[in-house]
Amino acid sequence: MKSRPQPRNSVALMQGYHSPQVEVEVRLNTNESPEPPPEAFRAALAQAINTVDWHRYPDRSAEHLRSRIGELHGVGAEQVFAANGSNEVLQTLLLTYGGAGRSAAIFEPTYALHAHLSRLTDTSVALGERGWGFCLDLTEVARVLEQRKPDVTFLCSPNNPTGVTDTLADVAGVLEMVTSSGGVLCVDEAYGEFSTQSTMSLLGAEVPLVVVRTYSKTWAMAGARLGYLVGPAWLVSELLKVALPYHLDTVTQLAGILALDYSDEMAARVSCLVAQRQRLEAEMAAMDLEVWPSGANFVLFRAKEIAGADLWNQLLERSVLVRNCAVWPRLQNCLRVTVGTPTENDRFLEALSEVLK
Ligand SMILES: Cc1ncc(COP(=O)(O)O)c(C=O)c1O
Repeated sequence: MKSRPQPRNSVALMQGYHSPQVEVEVRLNTNESPEPPPEAFRAALAQAINTVDWHRYPDRSAEHLRSRIGELHGVGAEQVFAANGSNEVLQTLLLTYGGAGRSAAIFEPTYALHAHLSRLTDTSVALGERGWGFCLDLTEVARVLEQRKPDVTFLCSPNNPTGVTDTLADVAGVLEMVTSSGGVLCVDEAYGEFSTQSTMSLLGAEVPLVVVRTYSKTWAMAGARLGYLVGPAWLVSELLKVALPYHLDTVTQLAGILALDYSDEMAARVSCLVAQRQRLEAEMAAMDLEVWPSGANFVLFRAKEIAGADLWNQLLERSVLVRNCAVWPRLQNCLRVTVGTPTENDRFLEALSEVLK
């Protein structure tokens, strides 16, 4: 028998990215919104869908959507690039500025897709470490940037899976280094709206900085697949060359535009989730746990007396699913819980205190 065709090495060696789903009563493992978007939004979208010209391609440059997103951040459409989820935004950035013979700096522990998408696009990974408390260590950043001169440098703030928000002074420090080494700084703010601080204030026409956001978390629209970045117009126009023609379908564009009419509801939802996160952090800190301060819609924690995998299993036995980070490098025995509804959080806290007793 002839041997089968082989994929590229960077694909053949890859595990793929998986987040296992298990049927449970309380699902707190993927940082989604615990509630659907507002009823009025869903009704308006259903009505708008009736007017879609299904036989026509979508607005190729998603001009209306990009200008509405731009308004949200005080910039024009030419500074916004939108795609099918922020993962596709990150991938497009790497297809444009990474690739064979180029590198991307990543400071672990951080969002696994930054390294995964780098490898997938044949961009070599320039690996650095975060410092004490998973905060940025500018000496380490300088070491990686001086040695590797990466084409793209990734930060994630608030960081997934630690929840830690980088200080604006630290991000500005990294930006200065990236600017002088000729690279692009990408700050992934998938959880930015849950935090009191954003890197958006550092954006500028000639600043090689992009800030990535998603509709999947705060806008409660993970099912729609929509994310975007804000950056300099010259950079956005390079990304537009790389995106597939008509990559954003008409319904996704409509959903993205309509959602922005409900920003007050979104802000109210964020406040409730932040209050619930603070409650989780406070109650967990009183247990036999190490808990990291979070600026996101999840909390990273480690039990002092029980192995992470055991704790994860015992929560699962109580029909509570959290993310098991226990075997991830640098996160030994850590678990991550997504903030749910008040009732889901009650169930989680109850299960947790029962197991730790
Ligand atoms: C830090 C970070 N960036 C990006 C994403 C991808 O989000 P999406 O592709 O749904 O926009 C996630 C999803 O969990 C994330 O945690």
